[in-house]
Amino acid sequence: MMTQDELKQAVARAAIEYVPAGIIGVGTGSTANFFTDELAHIKGKIEAAVASSVATAERLKKHGIRVIDLNEAGEMAVYVDGADEITPHMAMIKGGGGALTREKIVAACARKFICIVDQTKLVDVMGKFPLPVEVIPMARSYVARQLVKLGGTPVLRAGFTTDNGNVILDVHNMNILDPVAMETEINQLVGVVTVGLFARRGADVCLMGTPEGVQTLKR
Ligand code: 5RP
Repeated sequence: MMTQDELKQAVARAAIEYVPAGIIGVGTGSTANFFTDELAHIKGKIEAAVASSVATAERLKKHGIRVIDLNEAGEMAVYVDGADEITPHMAMIKGGGGALTREKIVAACARKFICIVDQTKLVDVMGKFPLPVEVIPMARSYVARQLVKLGGTPVLRAGFTTDNGNVILDVHNMNILDPVAMETEINQLVGVVTVGLFARRGADVCLMGTPEGVQTLKR
């Protein structure tokens, strides 16, 4: 039996095949950490990396990989990151690690989003994993009331501040039947910085770790 960490490591290794020479966008979380560690083996091929969090930037630098600012990088070919849930249509919930805003920004600048997950992340309907929403602190209660109106149960992530100085509401009990519509609706709420639904711009490729090997799902 392979452990969840072994599945994550296998997809991290498989993602290396998608890394072109040049600048690479790197995500956040335990699966992305395995990917960062794999990148270290091919660092001669990489010009620089753009990190989606302070934690990832630190890890890249520890491996001797140059980290540059997104504004300096401009567009890049590939962004590699994990997800908390992903559907067969490649829509994702992200933000379990709280880095959703920078992840969405870096992903927006990448031509290809490669999602790396173990098979436990694949779902038909998203929402079992509480949906993270990054919110400007003074709007916390207002946004929470609006999310209740949308049928959710928002819970403030205790003791957590994002890299951008904001708070996270984890929204439970959301039955996300139309991820694109829900992303659009929550984006509209004033005070919301980013919703952890990545549906309008989902993944292009999903590498999924299973005990039988790495499966590749494409849009
Ligand atoms: C962080 C994220 C991560 O990609 C997501 O939480 C998955 O993490 P892990 O690979 O540790 O399961 O969105 O903000």
